[in-house]
Amino acid sequence: MGTEYHVGVIPGDGTGPEVVAEGIKVLNAAADRFGFGLKYTTYDLGGERYKRTGETLPDSVIRELKQHRAIFLGAIGHPEVAPGILEKGILLKARFELDQYINLRPVKLYEGVDTPLKNKGPAEIDFVVVRENTEGLYAGAGGFLKKGTADEIAIQESINTRKGAERCIRYAFDVTRKRNKGKKLTLCGKTNVLTFAFDLWERTFYEVAKEYPDIATDYAHVDATCMWMIKNPEWFDVIVTDNLFGDIITDLGAMIQGGMGIASGGNINPEGVSMFEPIGGSAPKYTGQNVINPLAAIMAGAMMLDFLGEAQAAACIEAAAQKAITKDLPSLDAGKMGRGTREVGDLVCRYVLEQ
Ligand code: IPM
Ligand code: MN
Repeated sequence: MGTEYHVGVIPGDGTGPEVVAEGIKVLNAAADRFGFGLKYTTYDLGGERYKRTGETLPDSVIRELKQHRAIFLGAIGHPEVAPGILEKGILLKARFELDQYINLRPVKLYEGVDTPLKNKGPAEIDFVVVRENTEGLYAGAGGFLKKGTADEIAIQESINTRKGAERCIRYAFDVTRKRNKGKKLTLCGKTNVLTFAFDLWERTFYEVAKEYPDIATDYAHVDATCMWMIKNPEWFDVIVTDNLFGDIITDLGAMIQGGMGIASGGNINPEGVSMFEPIGGSAPKYTGQNVINPLAAIMAGAMMLDFLGEAQAAACIEAAAQKAITKDLPSLDAGKMGRGTREVGDLVCRYVLEQ
């Protein structure tokens, strides 16, 4: 038996537990096949616990999560809890407290998956977004003045530090080099309007670029980035951007890669504990119906294994998912897969063991 990895599991809300169960099934199959161990500790964070106890992500749980090698997350968001409480109290708190300063989101169209883009296929849709994950407008800086009156003022400030931009940009250059595909990194910003924040980002980008003479640099405003992602997605290799722009363009990315059923990402602290998740939400209306697509969670599991150093196992899961898509799944949308959530998990497990 090889290494045993301790993984914290947060199934979360809605369909989160269903897709996490399939993800774990597949992770276990890969562990058997490749001779390493996985030990899980499950945390019942989410809307139900909040309704019962008022707790979101207690500091004691943060301390425990820090003891794990990685975290596997389902989804956060509950229809009976006001928007923002769970998102800020659990998801963002985990990202911030564990200093997961990168949100890595591959936009890859698998063979046999439908994209809404005409005349574009897997050769054209294959890039990676590196989203800054701890600063910007997400930092929570700001406040109200004279709240509830006619003179009310609401301020929401974007926090951009040299250190935060630089470590994110450097990580993105490293990803571009390691990926070794287009060898091009595009900074996505808004230098024509956000003349403080993106001035810092742009200066940092071109300074760090000097350390990477083998990587071509490019710049696109965020609105133009949206346009090119639809019109010429093949222009992109790796995109680096701030927290909010990264949030927005990766939902667009998810749609061109075949939808939320397949899009996954990693909240990465290269020096600490990283957290892997399907990027779609908790999809409460599908809860408990065995119809949600578990592939995004399964691919998040593969990303986690890659980060743990089990690259072969990760590649095997990806190949197994591709096989299930090609052979068995007419669509990746919830309720249209021609199979249930559990059956898709079983298929991928079977292909992991057969590869
Ligand atoms: C995401 C989500 C979160 C974000 C929400 C749930 C706070 O949309 O992971 O992209 O905005 O980062
Ligand atoms: Mn989002």
